[in-house]
Amino acid sequence: MNLPKFSSLYGRIFAIFWLTMLLVLITVLAASQLDPRQLHDVPANSLKDLQNQAQTITSNYQNSSSIRASIKQIERSNVDSGRLNYYFNDTEGHWLNPPSGMRARALNNFITQSDKSNFPQQRLYGRLMIAGPLPVVIAQHELNMYFAIRWHQPPPFLLQLLDRPLQLLLAVMLASTPLLLWLAWALSKPAMRLEKAAQKVARGIIELDPELEKGPSEFKQAGASFNQMVMAINNKISEQQRLLSNISHELRSPLTRLRMANALAIRKQGDSAELARIDMEAERLELMINELLELSRQQIDSHQIQQNLSVAELWAETIEDGKFEAEQQKKSLICSAIPKAVMTGNPNLLISAVENVIRNAIRYCEHSVWVDFKQVTVKQQSSLIITIEDDGPGVDKEELEAIFRPFYRVSTARERHSGGAGLGLAITHSVITQHNGQITALRSQHGGLAVQITLPLDL
Ligand SMILES: Nc1ncnc2c1ncn2[C@@H]1O[C@H](COP(=O)(O)OP(=O)(O)OP(=O)(O)O)[C@@H](O)[C@H]1O
Ligand SMILES: [Mg+2]
Repeated sequence: MNLPKFSSLYGRIFAIFWLTMLLVLITVLAASQLDPRQLHDVPANSLKDLQNQAQTITSNYQNSSSIRASIKQIERSNVDSGRLNYYFNDTEGHWLNPPSGMRARALNNFITQSDKSNFPQQRLYGRLMIAGPLPVVIAQHELNMYFAIRWHQPPPFLLQLLDRPLQLLLAVMLASTPLLLWLAWALSKPAMRLEKAAQKVARGIIELDPELEKGPSEFKQAGASFNQMVMAINNKISEQQRLLSNISHELRSPLTRLRMANALAIRKQGDSAELARIDMEAERLELMINELLELSRQQIDSHQIQQNLSVAELWAETIEDGKFEAEQQKKSLICSAIPKAVMTGNPNLLISAVENVIRNAIRYCEHSVWVDFKQVTVKQQSSLIITIEDDGPGVDKEELEAIFRPFYRVSTARERHSGGAGLGLAITHSVITQHNGQITALRSQHGGLAVQITLPLDL
């Protein structure tokens, strides 16, 4: 098995858990080292104090005649101070002033535990601090002296924690929170980056993101695979579009030859209804193929072109052209102000999408076309709503959805003369959905058709 590397996700998780455990262990060990309930050497400043007291006793009582009387006297003077008690023990381990009750248990335990007879140690029993032994001489007897001191200091914070497991657990959780937060952040950041990239692809923005190939090695690999996938999708789309373009191009040559042969036949045999029909249908076919070719040329690699676009600049020319075209046909185009907003997309596709709808409206309207641009914000998402209406015959309710299908034309005789391959709205529909927008057709308040396009804006 390979050792985990810190750059890998599992190495990081392992390291952070390990570090947290180590921290907890060190804290617990350090806290128990500070615990006065453990046997410790007497600290230097207290030791000096104890030694001074032992020396005073030795110098006062070493030459006294009775050892017991001396100890009684020492005890009496000692009780006055109320805090400290001395206990004496001869070389054979007998108490000269035997302690009682809890003190006896504490002192006997202390003696059995402390192994350094020539170096004073101390340990806390409940509220009683025992220290010793210190050598003293009373009535020419060498004795060991022990101190029993009432301990009033509260135990340090860490020790309080050690005594309360629930609080200890809370403290450990609190202390490890930053580390775990960091871990969670390190885990979720690349995942979020990946999710954003996937969202972008879903929105039709199929582009590589070098940022994905950073971070822990597992995510680096996932990011690299994601980018490979994006590249493969791009190639596939381009391939398909090229294929469509090639097919439409190749279809044109036999069609041209067909029309030429038809023209020759008309010249040889004179005009007939059948030949005229063949010529008309061939012409329509050629028109459709030309449109298909134009569409596929426009779309080749266009899914890879994504720009930040100013809405007003994008369609200003389209509107001007529309006005001009309407005037030529003695009609009018009325347009509201275009909001100053920004969106991301492919400019050529977006322009032709709106243009198709406007040209339909001009073609079918009686007198006027109305174009309205409106910006709406719902739940922090800003959208642009473009409504194109006319006062023409409109489209039957049942056909309102069908007009977005490729080659669909409303089936009235009048349509036959109005040209068009029935591809315009299909192109518009595909462009709008590609840009994450929606398009719907409904009845206009002016009597004709209303086409409503909704496109997401950048914030
Ligand atoms: N403003 C409108 N009023 C009435 N009918 C419409 C309107 N716009 C579109 N249509 C109907 O929807 C059909 C499909 O429109 P679309 O733009 O896709 O094709 P087209 O205009 O016939 O051909 P192309 O746009 O490819 O030259 C049209 O043939 C027409 O019958
Ligand atoms: Mg059209």
